[in-house]
Amino acid sequence: MHILVTGGAGYIGSHTCLELLSCGHRVTVVDNLSNASIESLSRVETLTGRKVNFCKVDLLDRQGLRGVFKSCDARFDAVIHFAGKKAVGESVANPLLYYHNNITGTLVLAEVMAEYGVKNIIFSSSATVYGDPATVPISEDFPLSCTNPYGRTKLMVEEILQDIVVADPQWNVCLLRYFNPVGAHKSGLIGEDPHGTPSNLMPYISQVAVGKLAQLSVFGGDYETKDGTGVRDYIHVVDLALGHVKAVERIVQNPGVVICNLGTGKGYSVLEMVRAFAEVSGKEIAYKIADRRAGDIAACYANPAKALRELGWQTQYGLHEMCEDTWRWQQNNPNGYGREIM
Ligand code: UD1
Repeated sequence: MHILVTGGAGYIGSHTCLELLSCGHRVTVVDNLSNASIESLSRVETLTGRKVNFCKVDLLDRQGLRGVFKSCDARFDAVIHFAGKKAVGESVANPLLYYHNNITGTLVLAEVMAEYGVKNIIFSSSATVYGDPATVPISEDFPLSCTNPYGRTKLMVEEILQDIVVADPQWNVCLLRYFNPVGAHKSGLIGEDPHGTPSNLMPYISQVAVGKLAQLSVFGGDYETKDGTGVRDYIHVVDLALGHVKAVERIVQNPGVVICNLGTGKGYSVLEMVRAFAEVSGKEIAYKIADRRAGDIAACYANPAKALRELGWQTQYGLHEMCEDTWRWQQNNPNGYGREIM
């Protein structure tokens, strides 16, 4: 199949391109490189021995996007839509930026897809759409709510795409709700390359381990969890990428709307993550217990049964590999892809 991947040069996007190519699919990437590096795709080409067709296009540029659909010699069988802004704090400070990029960008994409008769889309959603769940593990039928503009863009796009299917049953939509993606490809050649100081736990820990950051602040030590620190469902990015390959294979069977959690079903606390990373890296991870972070919840982990049922997908990698692969990437690439700011 020929898959268009928006945001394909980013962290999850690049790992997904690699797995799609490894399974024999063709890949075209559109990315504006605002939070990604073209170098990630060169490395994907090196690892797979296959070519990625790259187009530096912003989804807000309708004409540019039309050009991608027009110029491709083969029609796209499906679109995997990762492109979007994803920092919670930034979304609170600048909601219009988030609504414009994530919502308008998706609207333009869907309109151009319809113009060219491409009606299969896999959307990169998030467990953030469950808000503060009443219980864990979380199933797909749990009530949805959001606490910040970033989360609301995910929920709104989910709703928009489902409305499109109601209006035109030729569309097929797969909404994948990710839990906490971590890790890197085992080659150590591609991984997560956050701008500036990371706000997510795993890249923060690995930068403490490599000596770039002095100390981790553990946000809250008094949650009602096993050790008082927040519990999350960390999922290896390669498992996540493989979930997209399964979703691509499923979507061409005309399923209508499919909604799946992509998580492991296991929850680890912040301190368990710190200990596991220290053990794998052989480095001490300095930390202090700090105040809770506004908007954080105590515990969040998936019931992944539906993804197994609907997509035939389940995770293969455990915490040890998540830490080991993150550490290999961090050590081999202390400055990430060394990109210039675009
Ligand atoms: C965050 C976002 C979520 C988004 C996801 C994408 C927030 C509030 N939520 O999820 O909307 O979908 O990233 O990756 O930003 N922690 C520390 N110290 C740190 C960083 C994190 O103790 O320096 C703790 C957090 O309190 C939490 C856990 O580590 O308990 C995981 O945090 P993080 O990696 O930021 O992910 P989420 O908050 O779950």
